Amino acid sequence: MNSGPALSNLSSETRHFDPPADLAANANVTAEAYEQASTDRLAFWAEQARRLDWTTEWSEILDWQPPFAKWFVGGTLNAAVNCVDRHVEAGIGERVALHFEGEPGDTRSITYAELQKEVAKAANALTELGVQQGDRVMIYLPMIPEAVVAMLACARLGAPHSVVFGGFSADSLRTRIGDTGAKLMITADGGYRRGKPGALKPTADAAIEGTAVDTMLVVRRTGEDVDFTEGRDHWWHDVVDRQEDTHEAEAFDAENPLFILYTSGTTAKPKGILHTTGGYLTQTAYTHHAVFDLKPVTDVYWCTADIGWVTGHSYIVYGPLANGATQVIYEGTPDTPHKGRFWEIVQKYGVTLLYTAPTAIRTFMKWGDDIPAGFDLSTLRILGSVGEPINPEAWMWYREHIGHDNCPIVDTWWQTETGAMMIAPLPGVTSTKPGSAQVALPGVSVDVVDESGTAVGDGEGGYLVLSEPWPAMLRGIWGDDERYKDTYWSRFDSMYFAGDGAKKDDDGDLWLLGRVDDVMNISGHRISTTEIESALVSHPKVAEAAVVGASDATTGQAIVAFVILRGSAAESAEDDEQAGEDLIQELRNHVGREIGPIAKPRQVMLVPELPKTRSGKIMRRLLKDIAEQREIGDVTTLNDSTIMDVIADKMPAAAAKED
Ligand code: PRX
Repeated sequence: MNSGPALSNLSSETRHFDPPADLAANANVTAEAYEQASTDRLAFWAEQARRLDWTTEWSEILDWQPPFAKWFVGGTLNAAVNCVDRHVEAGIGERVALHFEGEPGDTRSITYAELQKEVAKAANALTELGVQQGDRVMIYLPMIPEAVVAMLACARLGAPHSVVFGGFSADSLRTRIGDTGAKLMITADGGYRRGKPGALKPTADAAIEGTAVDTMLVVRRTGEDVDFTEGRDHWWHDVVDRQEDTHEAEAFDAENPLFILYTSGTTAKPKGILHTTGGYLTQTAYTHHAVFDLKPVTDVYWCTADIGWVTGHSYIVYGPLANGATQVIYEGTPDTPHKGRFWEIVQKYGVTLLYTAPTAIRTFMKWGDDIPAGFDLSTLRILGSVGEPINPEAWMWYREHIGHDNCPIVDTWWQTETGAMMIAPLPGVTSTKPGSAQVALPGVSVDVVDESGTAVGDGEGGYLVLSEPWPAMLRGIWGDDERYKDTYWSRFDSMYFAGDGAKKDDDGDLWLLGRVDDVMNISGHRISTTEIESALVSHPKVAEAAVVGASDATTGQAIVAFVILRGSAAESAEDDEQAGEDLIQELRNHVGREIGPIAKPRQVMLVPELPKTRSGKIMRRLLKDIAEQREIGDVTTLNDSTIMDVIADKMPAAAAKED
């Protein structure tokens, strides 16, 4: 693992920032929580579970048959009731749950009482369309309130949802539908992105071909014309709006599946990460309360993630709503219609708690300090970061230009698999260091180990592991227990291997160092090299491809592809520079179509050969050296060591092609 330079570089970080006195004095969670959790971890989590309404209390807190966990065994509850109905019953139905801001500027504010009715109607509609407990429901929607309503309606029926990010292509969507075996999909005509309507329905139509989906519920968002298949497709406004606005909710087992969310792995097939109800809701609600110090009456919270990623599941839908938060959801991009859109939204709604990603922060840095300076950001009190390591420079910029030096920054490490935050500061307790996610949250057991699984000392680096089960942990990979065991539990004995490198500094604080496997992190989203290689090789002109993630100032990592063309295509690209350039563009678009725009390589290099070991394994490490324009590392294990010179010679010719 290449932790050398990161170690010396990060160790020089001596700045730290104590919590504002006021925040510390009134914090939801104090240092006592660490002690309480370390004295009796299970009792600590049981206490947090009591933050929810249970229909039946559990008989056992944890049943751990490694690597399979059951939390709150025998307990029953309904997730949607916990996120909505109980707040109405508690008399806060008039509180706004969602302030929706559409990209074109249309807005809707939905109270908890209104949300309760919407969810009840949607649950009744899904029942009418045949959905029952255990049925999987696909959701392929833009960031509109119906996405939240749809998820909660599924949860209410005990029917696990599988949300697919609207930027994914028909092929990616089809793979996911096939894996879940879903029969119903909720989608929309389209959504607004970068100032214009973008269609979703045609992609949804193409994706369901050959799958079990025989019913589509379609939200009208853009009003654009769409094809409608009689008997199969139903408008949301036709079916949902005419339903009763009450619905009798059933309590489900704590381990009833809540959702399946797909994430990239080191093979081409995405993994369906399975989450269940009681433990997941407990930890998302607790961490949101603790790390954002949510004061539901006065705070306005905004998480800028899309509902299609885990952050949208845990910190837009389940955690904040279980806590009765008032939040903003925004449909569009940060630069539409102008580069100050985020800050205009903060000012407009008086946002107090903001949760965004390092890639966005670096983009804002690039756009210039004067843009946020033009808006009133004085309501902000805590700033969150998630998705990838935040470099100290971006952390300091966030603190200074968005937080005006008085908002703690909470850098939160977690994964789709962990379901909820695992490593993060407590804003009223932790003295934060720029770039460090600090320490494990109360009740969470994290370590950094060497190759042999032995904990490293302070000041040393290694692999990040989770050494005890946690309530929101994945319960497996949908339909593939073996892959679950192999991926997470086989590398180290009785420890969950997260796939991330990390180091402990001299104080024992944790610094995340990125993925150690062939999974790239592009703008905070995990994408596997294999998936992109497969997409490239599916192009008729491509013989072989290798993909690496090269560090990139804005997106964290960017995709660089090395491609060997088939015979005649190689010749024409070699003879005609323009033909080569055109083909590169064609290949980038091809990947965009196959997987989605996020997977488009920044650069495609046409090469005659790839560096391989004698056993035929591609040495991605060396390609990464080229992509990052570094001196090339050790080539002694290569089958043909001259190949690196040939590839390196190609580098300047293949200039970066940015959209
Ligand atoms: O590499 C880590 C990085 O994102 C991975 C998880 O990606 P995903 O499942 O898509 O979930 C993203 C949102 C939770 C991790 O294995 N990562 C996430 N948060 C951080 C991070 N790396 C460093 N610091 C973080 N705060």
